[in-house]
Amino acid sequence: MSSILVTGGAGYIGSHVVRQLGERGESVHVLDNLSTGFRSAVLHGTLVVGDTADTALVSKLLESRRIESVLHFAAHVVVPESVADPLKYYRNNTCATRNLIECCVRAGVRHVIFSSTAAVYGIPPGGVASEDTPTVPINPYGLSKLMSEWMLRDAATAHPLRFVALRYFNVAGADPGGRIGQSTPQATHLIKAACEHAVGKRNHVAIFGTDYDTPDGTGVRDYIHVEDLAAAHLQALDYLRKGGTSTTLNCGYGEGLSVREVLDEVARASGRELKITEAPRRAGDPPQLVAEADRIREVLSWEPRHRDLAGIVGSALAWEQRLLRQPMT
Ligand code: UD1
Repeated sequence: MSSILVTGGAGYIGSHVVRQLGERGESVHVLDNLSTGFRSAVLHGTLVVGDTADTALVSKLLESRRIESVLHFAAHVVVPESVADPLKYYRNNTCATRNLIECCVRAGVRHVIFSSTAAVYGIPPGGVASEDTPTVPINPYGLSKLMSEWMLRDAATAHPLRFVALRYFNVAGADPGGRIGQSTPQATHLIKAACEHAVGKRNHVAIFGTDYDTPDGTGVRDYIHVEDLAAAHLQALDYLRKGGTSTTLNCGYGEGLSVREVLDEVARASGRELKITEAPRRAGDPPQLVAEADRIREVLSWEPRHRDLAGIVGSALAWEQRLLRQPMT
């Protein structure tokens, strides 16, 4: 059977994909430097602790494990941090991806599935982005990923390599089986922060910006369940294995929810009144970012199965409660 290398497979999204790949019997090898990932989150396959930027290690792995497909998750993902420390993002996201692509080309890897982001769109007209919307990132994180997309596109034109770049919107929720979830300490993203507050780990949750030109003045995003996102990766792999041409696809539900709507759901699901503070806008945040997500359904026949906010928040909350009882190691 053809083998798969998953970079960042001990991280939040990568570990959910590894679990789904393992459940369908794929041969999986994980490469993760454990900077934000956890050994115990890797539920299938073998784990090699190392860095994606380590060209010698990556080349050795690709050859010795006869890797046919690479799923590349390893990256930094925090928008405000990328504004404060842009070179960290260009090093770890852009430069490391360049090295990885070069290793893939040399080793004859046939397929790459790349974790891209809705942040490549910046502030799209009307707050809604299709894959054809111009890419004008407004933060270094988005640009670091866009440059990676471009390198992949050019490499795939020059070499016999095909790719799917998946532009994630806002990923949230956890494994419905309760085994893995978003475990990063000091996480900045909304649903995690709100759930941490709901279980008593934080004393409040802040709304960053209440004066946006949106229905309730708070930021609007397209929240997608990590299980649906993980399934899209498996379908992208099937698509490439069947000979599909390189493509870039939005991963979202096409439905915008405001910060206040999300916080209302966390309060409802937890049965607790949240202590909410109003803070200024956060650097690098667009007012609204929602997917036009028809292409992924057409190209991959992807059908979301966890499409309601209650399910996303419920699983995220259950995961926070589990972390309280049993922290990740
Ligand atoms: C997230 C992802 C990013 C991805 C992008 C695509 C993370 C850490 N970042 O960024 O990788 O490319 O989606 O859209 O997952 N907010 C608050 N209070 C908080 C936290 C957030 O009000 O404590 C607000 C933000 O201002 C924003 C919304 O909630 O309006 C979502 O923020 P966040 O969950 O941090 O995700 P993004 O910055 O959109």
